[in-house]
Amino acid sequence: MKIGIVTGASSGLGRESVIQLWEHFGGMDAIWVVARRRERLLELSQQVGVPLCIFSLDLTKGRDLAVLAAALAKEKPQVKFLVNAAGFGKTGPLAEMSMEDSVGMVQLNCTALTAVTRMVLPYMAENSRIIQYASGAAFLPQPGFAVYAATKAYVFSFSRALNRELKDRRICVTAVCPGPVRTEFFDRAGGTLPLYKRLVMANPRRVAAKAIRDSIACRELSIYSPAMELFFLLTKLVPHRLLLGALLAAQTRMRQKLPAARTVTKED
Ligand SMILES: NC(=O)c1ccc[n+]([C@@H]2O[C@H](COP(=O)([O-])OP(=O)(O)OC[C@H]3O[C@@H](n4cnc5c(N)ncnc54)[C@H](OP(=O)(O)O)[C@@H]3O)[C@@H](O)[C@H]2O)c1
Repeated sequence: MKIGIVTGASSGLGRESVIQLWEHFGGMDAIWVVARRRERLLELSQQVGVPLCIFSLDLTKGRDLAVLAAALAKEKPQVKFLVNAAGFGKTGPLAEMSMEDSVGMVQLNCTALTAVTRMVLPYMAENSRIIQYASGAAFLPQPGFAVYAATKAYVFSFSRALNRELKDRRICVTAVCPGPVRTEFFDRAGGTLPLYKRLVMANPRRVAAKAIRDSIACRELSIYSPAMELFFLLTKLVPHRLLLGALLAAQTRMRQKLPAARTVTKED
C-alpha cells in the first residue's frame, strides 16, 4: 500500500498539502492525515478523491504518537511522502507566556516532528520525500517570538542534516521556510501582526505547491517569495547583532504605539 502522511492536515499548509498530493500524485492508495480536530479531517475527506485515513491525535502526547506508530507497524505501508506541518507559535516575551505554551511549542514543533519522522523512516523506500515545515523565523533569533524561532531553527538544521544522512537511500528532505502565510496560525499566535508581515502575507496554496515542487526536485530548502530569499541572504551576510538591533528598534517603535490600540480593544 503506497501512502502519504500529512500532519497538521486540519488547516492551513497541511490541509493544502493533502489536496495537492491528491491532485498531482495519482499513485497513492491513501493519505494518512493527522491533527486533533477530527471533524475538520472528515470534512477534508469529502473534498479529495483519495481515501483519507483519519488520525485524530494530539502529537504532544506520547500515547497518541504510539497510536500512529502502532498503525505503521500493523499496516507496514510504503510511505512516499511525509509532510510534517503540525506546528504552532505564540508571540510575546517568555516571562509573560504560560508554561504550557512555551514548552508546548518545543513539544509539537521539535519533539513530535522528530518522533514522527523517526517512526516513519523505516517505511520509506527509495525516491520518497520528506517535507518539513520550518519557517523564515529559523534564519534569525526573534525577541518576542523567541521559542517559536528557536524551534524552527531546530527544524531547519535537523532537516538539512537528515537530507544528507538519507542521500544513500535516495530520500530527499526539504525544509520549507516561508514568511507569513494566511492561515489560522495567527489566530493562535496572538499579538498584533506588524504591517510589514501583513504586506508580505502569502497564499497557503502557493506556498504548499512550491514546497511540493521543491521536494520533487530534491531541493534542501524551499523559500517562498523574493522577500524571504532576500531576508535569508541578509541573515547570511549581515552580522546578527546588527539585524537584531534593527528588529528591537522596530519592536520598540511598535510598543510605543500600542497603549492607544489596547484601550480601544478593552472598551470594545
Ligand atoms: N502561517 C504562517 O505564517 C507560517 C509561516 C512559516 C511557517 N509556518 C509553519 O507551517 C506549519 C503549518 O502552519 P499553518 O500556517 O498551516 O498553521 P495552522 O493553520 O494553524 O495549522 C496548524 C496545524 O497543526 C495542527 N496542530 C496543532 N497542534 C497540534 C497538536 N497538539 N497535535 C496535532 N496537531 C496539531 C492543527 O490541527 P488541530 O488544531 O486540529 O490539532 C493544524 O492542522 C507550522 O509548522 C508553522 O509553524 C507557518
